[in-house]
Formats: sequence, structure tokens, C-alpha cells
Amino acid sequence: MHYGRFLVTTPIYYVNDNPHIGHAYSTIAADILARYWKNRGAETFFLTGSDEHGMKIAQAAAKAGITPKEFADKISNKYKEAWSELNIGYNNFIRTTDADHEKFVQDFVQKLYDNGDIYPDKYSGLYCVGCEEYKKDEDLEKGNICPVHKKECEMIEEDIYFFKLSKYQGQILEAIQSGKYSIEPESRRNEIFKFLAKEPLRDLAISRSKVEWGIQIPWDKNQTIYVWVDALLNYLSGSKGFWPPQLQIIAKDIFRFHAIIWPAMLLATGYELPEKLFIHGYFTINGQKMSKSLGNVVDPVEIAKVYGTDALRYFVMREVPFGADGDFSLDRFDQRYRADLANDLGNLFQRTIVMAANAKVHWEYVGPIKKFPEFDALMEELKFSDALGLIWKMISEANVLIDAEKPWELAKVDPAKNEKLLQGLLDTLANISDLIGPFMPETQAKMIEQLKTGKPEVLFPRKK
Ligand code: MSP
Repeated sequence: MHYGRFLVTTPIYYVNDNPHIGHAYSTIAADILARYWKNRGAETFFLTGSDEHGMKIAQAAAKAGITPKEFADKISNKYKEAWSELNIGYNNFIRTTDADHEKFVQDFVQKLYDNGDIYPDKYSGLYCVGCEEYKKDEDLEKGNICPVHKKECEMIEEDIYFFKLSKYQGQILEAIQSGKYSIEPESRRNEIFKFLAKEPLRDLAISRSKVEWGIQIPWDKNQTIYVWVDALLNYLSGSKGFWPPQLQIIAKDIFRFHAIIWPAMLLATGYELPEKLFIHGYFTINGQKMSKSLGNVVDPVEIAKVYGTDALRYFVMREVPFGADGDFSLDRFDQRYRADLANDLGNLFQRTIVMAANAKVHWEYVGPIKKFPEFDALMEELKFSDALGLIWKMISEANVLIDAEKPWELAKVDPAKNEKLLQGLLDTLANISDLIGPFMPETQAKMIEQLKTGKPEVLFPRKK
């Protein structure tokens, strides 16, 4: 598989809270892929951003005693700062309060209305502000408690507009079944397929009469557009004509919005469906759910400040197979930093460059020496952890070779053989630098610099 063009998106994150390791995870994955496909010659576009409307943001702003817009400005800046710290090279950071996005959303909804896909009706139901979603009774715990947010849902009754979601059920099923709309991992595809095949979809409440902080329904000044419809449309408005996405990355918490509402909206307006939706897992922290109340929220910027951005990027991608749930623990992080980065990779570089300099080896950096189809296959399948495993196999083989051949002794008895050995090792370093680039861009730059100048520099300083 080869992409000539590659549009990759992350969820746009709610600005009610600061960026944490979970947000960083999706964003780092998208960044790695954007870099990877760019290197392979694809025209790439990487879209991320912030989700700024709705009741949840309005309530958080009220609590902070500032306007929702002031609140959104503040937190969306924090996201931008965090992404800059983590070396995230997005092409567009969309904010749903951007004027052109708001206009796009209104035009889109108007089109649905004009096509006859929107009708007015009464709604009464239990609403979870945390999920920004009406809940069915059977999805709630006793006392109308939302199982995700552990908070009681609010009973809301209003005259609103509905989108004919049910009309598109068959088409969505068909798109998933035929592979036109690919959902991965397979278990997620089966899950959504079963869900869609079993239950008739209910139409979607697409407006709110009681939420002021949102985009106005163009034909009814008393209503705002449901925040999820507004948010999903970022993918279209933010990608600036670069449609459709080759890959949309999300986690399981927002799976149904993306696998059902989103394709229905696109089908209803004649846009192409995304090629692939990938659902990754959730990080727990030392085995526990990450939550403010537990006080265990991990700030990726703090970690990057101590260990370096690349160590963080490496750890999250190596530790957990993409798609599975995983755990984040600082002990484990520290272990991998010492073993994989400082020891295996750092040492290999350091000693090879030093030995090559001592032996005055003739070698010039000309970029990677070899192609690695096995690595490419893993990247194409989003098997980041295995792809890194393959690089580390090369690293460990090179270290084993050095220990076995002992160039420092070989230099004395057979300088010609030693030169060849070191040239081979330098070639390996050039290959490793190439493969590692999308994952660890800063480290790659340092590696290449060393290969060019022959001057060693510690890549991963030892921590106390
Ligand atoms: N604003 C919506 C998304 C709209 S997209 C059109 C939203 N925002 S969010 O801030 O709650 O972000 C949810 C996303 O953050 C998840 O889908 C996932 O990508 C990431 N993660 C949040 N917590 C996470 C973990 N604990 N572990 C891994 N990823 C997590 O939902």
C-alpha cells in the first residue's frame, strides 16, 4: 500500500481541561504518520484542533468566572503550546470558534435542511453534560447516573430539530461491510457492525434550545447546533479541500459518534467517506483510570521537560500496541529510558562514533543505505510498537556485534577488518537514523549531525 496523498486527523480536544497524556497519544500517533508518509513522498495534511462550544465548556468557563471565549482562548493556547513542546507538526490547528468554521457548519446544516433531512420535533430525555449526549435509560446506572462521568444526567425537554440519521443506517452498514469505510482494529469493526445490524437507529437531536454557547441554527435564531455536529465538521472545514482523510485517529470513547453520526452526515451531503477510522485504546495511570479527582492526570509536557520530547514519543508508541489499552507508569517510563534509550541506542551511537573517529575510518554520511520493506509494512498497518521493535532489533544486533568483535582490540591486530566492521556499523546507524525519524525527530537530527561530523554527543543523558 502506498499513499500519494495522506490526510490524517486527530479528535479535536475539548477546552474544558488541559492537555494530558491521552490527548498527546492520539496526536503523537498522527504526527508520526504524517512525517512517515511525507518521507515516502506523499502529499500530507495533518489536522488537529480544539472543540470549544457546548454546555460543558460554558459551564467550565462560568466556574472560572470568565466568558466561554476567553476560557477557550486560554486552553486552546495550552494545547498549542503542548503540541509545540512535543514537536507536533500539524498543518492546521482548527478552533471551532473560528469564523470560517462557524460559517461552514451553518452552510452544512442548511444544506441538510434544504435536502429535507432535518425536521422539528419535541425532545425530552436525560442529558449527560460530560458526554454532551442524550442518554437512553438502559445506558445509565441507577439514579440516572452516567457510567462514564458518574454524574446524574439532567432531564431536558425542548423543541428542537432532528437529523434523519435512521435514513442512512443501511448505507453506513454497506460502506462498512464493503470495506469502503474501513474501521480498525477488526474487533471494533465487528462491534459497530453488530450494533448497526441489530438496532434501528434513532434520529439525532441536532440542535439545542437551551445551549447558548454554540453556532446558531441559520433558520432559527433561538437554537444552536449540537456541539457534536459542530465538532465533527471540523474535519471538513479544517482540511481545506484536502478531502477525504486517509486516516482518522480516535479512541474508543468517541467511537460511535465517528462510526455512525459522522458517515451519515457525509452520506447525506454527498461527501466522500474517510478511508479509515482507527480506534486506539485508553491509557490508565499505574493501573487506575486517569481522573482529576484521583489527582493522577499525567501532563505530557512535564515529562518531556524531564526526559525530552522524543523519549515520551518513543515510550507511548513502544509500550502499548496501537489499538490496545495500556498503562502509563513513570517507573516503566524510567526503565525504558535507561534500557532502550540511554543504554541500547545511546551507547551504540556513542561508542561507534568514538571508535570510528579513533580508527580514522573512511566513511561519509549519504543518507540511509537500505530499504526496509518489513518496517514499511508494519507502519502501513499502524503497528508502531512492532516497527520500533524492529529498529531495536537492529540496535541490539549491532551492540552484540561490537561486543563480539571488540573493535578496540581488532584495531590493533587487523586494522583493515576493523575499518570494514566500523563502516558496516556506521551504515547501520545511518539506517537507524532514517527509520527512527518520524518517531524521534530531534534525536534523528542529532544522530545525523554526529554521523556527518564524526563528533559524539550524548543522546540520552543519564538520569539520577
Ligand atoms: N471534543 C471531543 C472530540 C470531538 S472530535 C470531532 C472529545 N474531546 S476530548 O478532549 O475528550 O478528547 C477525547 C480523545 O482524547 C480520545 O478520543 C482520545 O483520542 C484522547 N484520549 C483522552 N483520554 C485518553 C486516554 N486515557 N488514553 C488514550 N487516549 C485518550 O472527545
